[in-house]
Amino acid sequence: MKYSLVLVLLLVFNVFGQHQLPIIPQPLSVFVGEGEFTLDKKARILLAPNEGLLFEAKFLQARIEELTGLRIPISHKSKDAKGAIRLAYKKVDYLDEHRITIDRSGVEISAATAEGIFHGIQTILQLIHASKASEESHIGLPFCEISDTPRFQWRGMHLDVCRHFFTKDEVKRYIDYLALYKMNTFHWHLTEDQGWRIEIKKYPKLTEIGAWRNGSMVGRYSDNNIDSVRYGGFYTQEEIKEVVAYAAERHISVVPEIEMPGHALAALAAYPELSCAGGPFEVGKSWGVFDDVYCAGNEEVFTFLENVLDEVVALFPSTYIHIGGDECPKTRWKECAKCQQRITDEGLIDEHELQSYFIQRMERYLNGKGKKIIGWDEILEGGLAPNAAVMSWRGESGGIAAAEAGHEVVMSPGNPCYFDHYQHPNKENEPIAIGGLNTLESVYNYQPIPAELSKNRHDFILGAQANVWSEYMTSFAQVEYMALPRMAAMAEVLWSESDRKEYSDFLERLAVQVTILDLWNTNYCKHYLTELK
Ligand code: ACM
Ligand code: ZN
Repeated sequence: MKYSLVLVLLLVFNVFGQHQLPIIPQPLSVFVGEGEFTLDKKARILLAPNEGLLFEAKFLQARIEELTGLRIPISHKSKDAKGAIRLAYKKVDYLDEHRITIDRSGVEISAATAEGIFHGIQTILQLIHASKASEESHIGLPFCEISDTPRFQWRGMHLDVCRHFFTKDEVKRYIDYLALYKMNTFHWHLTEDQGWRIEIKKYPKLTEIGAWRNGSMVGRYSDNNIDSVRYGGFYTQEEIKEVVAYAAERHISVVPEIEMPGHALAALAAYPELSCAGGPFEVGKSWGVFDDVYCAGNEEVFTFLENVLDEVVALFPSTYIHIGGDECPKTRWKECAKCQQRITDEGLIDEHELQSYFIQRMERYLNGKGKKIIGWDEILEGGLAPNAAVMSWRGESGGIAAAEAGHEVVMSPGNPCYFDHYQHPNKENEPIAIGGLNTLESVYNYQPIPAELSKNRHDFILGAQANVWSEYMTSFAQVEYMALPRMAAMAEVLWSESDRKEYSDFLERLAVQVTILDLWNTNYCKHYLTELK
């Protein structure tokens, strides 16, 4: 546990008591005193001149107004300090730590970074909200000392915009949810068999052809019912920049996923010469895995992907680029003269090594651009690229093997991190989902560090993320239903120390905080209410 000296002294002198405040995710340490600060129209948001933080101040101002109707002016004048919400850079123990003090003199949020201050702002907004939810006539913030820092550095949420497309504004709303719960990584799954969603200027057919399909599966997969409605959409590069900037202001990194060598049918529909067999192809209409993938023996494929990645790298400042790597059938490669020639020329044993060759080549290219690659755990097969990070989805064994070998890992096992699974055992009464069952409680109790992982490898687990695959989410309202409130549970898994977590207590805090989602008209799932006795 990480306590600052000030907090230890407060505890020793018993000025404050350790209590729970209705904050999600649970902070590292909270001491609550007697009394409260009343936030009213006399308050100011105070910033030191020339320190920046103007975005943070304006964000706080706008959100307070949204929650309370109060428009609190921003001031740079120290005479306004009394009764203000002060945002201040301060030296703290950890780079991503923030501290909050609420006392008679007002509120102070301090941190070494704007990111830390932004996290503190989320806590203050939740406290304002909790006061409002209690239906008191005024906004009272309890006197307290909070010192808080996240447990994991990768606190991720994924969104598949390919099986179903969500608009730029819907994606921004998704990012709002991440910000609310102090998540910091948005994994944007942008290319798939069923649709290519990112404008690439050098290859216009990717979106002219690849972003549109002539039908979609309707209902359960087993019904094999495909409609004939043209469906699609994509983001222009300007829209991508807008979303990336929106996320960056909220201290969220956007990791784009460009799938290779499989899940590439939409690209092959646009450029069939990049396949082994030559096509023609249609953008995928049904879900699942398709045999036609990029040809690993064709130099044009590498030129194409490098050119695509040049444009992707220019749009996304993230350290990591996700290159997919999952579910690539080897059927076509086995029959393709070019792929077989590559196997011979490179002295590879089989098609798994050919996939490894493919990924390693793309890794070298991206490393040369100052980027790291991350891929699904299939990239372990045939030999892991030397610097690659692994996203473990088929359970945790891939993640464990990668971490033991000294690679960075993001845990995202199907159970409980796939939010396309049902969340209630009574599946008959739920909207159709892909299957499985990941309850709110199972998400909440997830431990990203497997018990069997060697102690000296724990630091290779960067964190975890939940994945929202959208085959069965035809609207953004359905994304909200599947993602929330499980996202809040995942946020606490990733932010809070295990010994600060307790499910029944989480449910009580959740009952207060979901009222923010009510204010936003979010279609979150309310099953947790039945568990809240
Ligand atoms: C995956 O779910 N295919 C990564
Ligand atoms: Zn081939």
